Amino acid sequence: MATPKGYSLAQISLHWIIAALILFQLVFGDAIGGAWRSVRQGAVPEMGAMAWAHIGVGVTVLLLVLWRISLRMARGVPAEAVTGTALTRFAAKVVHLGLYLLMLALPITGLAAWFGGITSAADVHELMKPLLILLIVLHVIGALWHQFVLKDNLLARMKRPG
Ligand code: HEM
Ligand code: HEM
Repeated sequence: MATPKGYSLAQISLHWIIAALILFQLVFGDAIGGAWRSVRQGAVPEMGAMAWAHIGVGVTVLLLVLWRISLRMARGVPAEAVTGTALTRFAAKVVHLGLYLLMLALPITGLAAWFGGITSAADVHELMKPLLILLIVLHVIGALWHQFVLKDNLLARMKRPG
């Protein structure tokens, strides 16, 4: 497979839509947390709009991530940045892989907990939250470091299709 010069419009759109949906999940995760606590106590959960939204948005993330991975396999992605050191390039790879794994594992464990009644899946789901936040912070620091320290305009790769 030839290496493309940049990300496609679909790949870029998916990156930003998924990022926004994940932010939504992180900010508004409380509602489903409350509903889940009622389930654990044997009560009928009070399902407000935000609790339903958590499930709907989570399933949407799963479907969009599967689409994104299929595009990655079919079309490929641009070669890794040449700027930075071998260590930072390796770190970027690890963070990207970690983000992909969490984008899959979060909805899967959420579904297993909610619809399968698997309590340990909910525990894993909750434990992954700080890890997700850590990887997003590292990812954004990396993007800003490229932009303002290395000044290589790497951010443009996630703005303009190539
Ligand atoms: C929840 C939030 C986010 C997630 C889950 C996420 C995930 C990812 C992943 C997995 C990649 C690798 C793409 C691939 O090779 O398939 C990537 C690339 C990229 N992301 Fe994000 N991202 C998020 C937010 C952001 C933000 C806020 C920025 C900007 C400040 C950003 C800037 C970039 C850039 C510039 C690339 C391209 C890096 C390169 O081509 O080497 N991302 N993102
Ligand atoms: C990208 C997808 C998802 C993300 C980022 C995400 C994130 C979160 C966050 C931040 C919380 C709050 C944890 C806390 O109490 O601090 C949460 C709780 C929860 N989510 Fe998700 N979620 C996703 C998908 C799903 C899906 C598809 C379901 C399926 C129904 C689900 C079910 C739950 C349940 C049951 C809880 C309560 C678990 C507990 O508090 O132990 N999630 N999620």
